[in-house]
Amino acid sequence: PKPVILDVDPGHDDAVAIMMACGALDLDVLAVTTVAGNATLPKTTRNALRILSLIGRTGIPVAAGASKPMERELRTAEDIHGESGMDGPQIPEAAFKPDGRGAVELIADTLGESPEPVALIPVGPLTNVAAFLRARPDLKEKISHVSIMGGSMGLGNTTPAAEFNIYVDPEAAREVFESGLRITMSGLNVTHQAGAGKSERDRLRDIGEVGGVVAGFLDFFATTYERIFGFEAPPLHDPVAVAAVLEPGLLKTRPMNVQVECESDLTRGETVCDFHGVTGKPPNAEVGLELDREGFFDLLYESLKRL
Ligand code: BDR
Ligand code: CA
Repeated sequence: PKPVILDVDPGHDDAVAIMMACGALDLDVLAVTTVAGNATLPKTTRNALRILSLIGRTGIPVAAGASKPMERELRTAEDIHGESGMDGPQIPEAAFKPDGRGAVELIADTLGESPEPVALIPVGPLTNVAAFLRARPDLKEKISHVSIMGGSMGLGNTTPAAEFNIYVDPEAAREVFESGLRITMSGLNVTHQAGAGKSERDRLRDIGEVGGVVAGFLDFFATTYERIFGFEAPPLHDPVAVAAVLEPGLLKTRPMNVQVECESDLTRGETVCDFHGVTGKPPNAEVGLELDREGFFDLLYESLKRL
C-alpha cells in the first residue's frame, strides 16, 4: 500500500476522506494532522479523533497543527458544517488523545521514519503544509506527491473567485504551489462532480454501521448545501483528493501553471489556472478536470465496507 499522511479540518467531507483512506486496501495512513479551517483547531482535532475512534483506528497518531492562517485572521465555515464543524449524527467522544508532537513535528518524524516517500493529502487550508516546508526543506524529497483538495479552475464557493481552503490561507497555498513538489489539484470544478445525491446516500446506509454514520453526516451536509448553494447533492470534495492517490486513473488531469492570488481583495485566494499555457510559465500542478463519477463512488463504497 502507498503510505500517506492526511492533513484535515473535519468537516463532513474531511471525515469521509479519513474513513475512505483508512478503509482503502491500497493506502497506509501513517498519520493525521489537523488544521483550523471549517472550525477552530480544538474542534477539528476533536472531530478527527472522534472519527478515527469510531472506526477503531486509534493507533494512527493525530497531531494538531496551526490554529490560524499564516498572515490572516481565521475564517470558519459553521454555515456549512455546523457549530461543531461536524454537526449531524451524534457519535461518541474520542477514545484517544492527540499526539504530544505538533503537526510539523509529526509530519517530519513520519517522513523520516518511512523507508519510502510518502504522499501528503491536505484537504483543509494549507497552513500546516507550508509551515512544514519552511521548517524542514531537507525532508522535501521524502514527499512523493501532494494531492490537494482546494482551489478551482473557475468559480469559487467562498467568494465568486475563491474556494474556501485557498481563500482561508492564500499565502500558505502560494508557498505550496511554488514548492516544486509534485502537486495534484482537485478543485471545485472537479469535486462538484462528486455530489452525493439521495441514491448514493441510501447505498451508503446499506453498507452497515459506518456507512450509516456517513450517510447521516451527508444528510446534514445536504441540507446546508441546498440552503446555501441550491445543490441537490452535496459534493464529496475531500475524498476526491484521496481517490487521486488511491486510483489516479479516476481523475483526468492536465498539467498547468497555477498561481494563487494574494494581493487583491476582490479575488484573494483565486487559483489562476493557465489552461492554454498563455503565460509560458512551466506547469506546477496537475489540475483535475474530470472525475469518473461511477468509479469514484464504487471505490468509496468498497473502502468504507472494509471498516
Ligand atoms: C472545502 O472546504 C471545506 O468546507 C471542505 O471540507 C472542503 O475541504 C471545499 O471548498
Ligand atoms: Ca476540508
